[in-house]
Amino acid sequence: MKDNISREQFIKATYEILSKEGIQALSIRRLGKMMDCNPANIYRYFTGPDVEQTLEIIGRTLDAHGRKEYEMPAKIGIHPYDDVFYHAMPAYVPGQMACGEKWIECYPRNPKEFGLPQTSGLMILNEILTGFPMVIMDGAWLTAMRTPAVTSIAAAAIHPDAETFGMFGCGVQGIGHVRYIVHKVKNLKKIYVYDVRRESMERLIEQVKDEVDGIELIMAVSPQEVAESCDVMSSATIITRENMAVVKKEWVHAGQTILPRFHL
Ligand SMILES: NC(=O)c1ccc[n+]([C@@H]2O[C@H](COP(=O)([O-])OP(=O)(O)OC[C@H]3O[C@@H](n4cnc5c(N)ncnc54)[C@H](O)[C@@H]3O)[C@@H](O)[C@H]2O)c1
Repeated sequence: MKDNISREQFIKATYEILSKEGIQALSIRRLGKMMDCNPANIYRYFTGPDVEQTLEIIGRTLDAHGRKEYEMPAKIGIHPYDDVFYHAMPAYVPGQMACGEKWIECYPRNPKEFGLPQTSGLMILNEILTGFPMVIMDGAWLTAMRTPAVTSIAAAAIHPDAETFGMFGCGVQGIGHVRYIVHKVKNLKKIYVYDVRRESMERLIEQVKDEVDGIELIMAVSPQEVAESCDVMSSATIITRENMAVVKKEWVHAGQTILPRFHL
């Protein structure tokens, strides 16, 4: 039995079974038999995409969006309480044979009241030949990667020479944004982070400090410091009934790029 099968060989074999025999024939056991290896070998390779792979997938998807090669109706939502939302986001990307729906919830009160994350959700992926659901997975995990990837690609396209980046909110998204932006905006010298909770800023810095390649990480003392210091900024804090207006108009100036993920 072999134990040195590569990820590419597994992918090629998967396509071969799919194209010749259809989805019903595909299983981990079948792949193992075909490749003459222990079926568990496959798990070595499929731990989920890293930052670069995520950026590549999201980049391809945004390109498809730019070419209008997608079907994505405007999202619909329900609001059992004033300050929460549930959003349904179906989409089809023919170029990637990707067809599915993200069903995401956001409860800003969760961390304080229940010790739970604000965001939860599910992602369902369907197989386009038959429509059968093939994957049901955690949508929050996906959102934690997809959202910073979109911000980072947009920042690199709009403001490629930016030297400073500012992040409002240092939770799941804040950490992801700092982690991803350094892969796309290559001239960054300083990253300012701001959060109402000091421990969130400290945790962000602790988690990303080895990934930012010498870029200075600064705990800002106020939102004003971030707004006045940064070429590019983004935000991921909490949803409030009224606009939060953390950043005042007089702190920003022409030439800055602002990519809010929520109220700024
Ligand atoms: N637009 C999108 O595509 C998209 C995608 C994902 C998340 N979001 C939004 O991003 C927000 C953050 O999500 P998360 O998963 O990172 O949440 P999180 O709870 O992990 O982090 C939120 C952070 O914001 C901080 N914060 C709260 N009020 C603040 C303020 N006034 N100023 C500075 N910091 C403040 C909190 O202390 C916390 O550390 C949510 O509102 C979510 O809906 C948007």
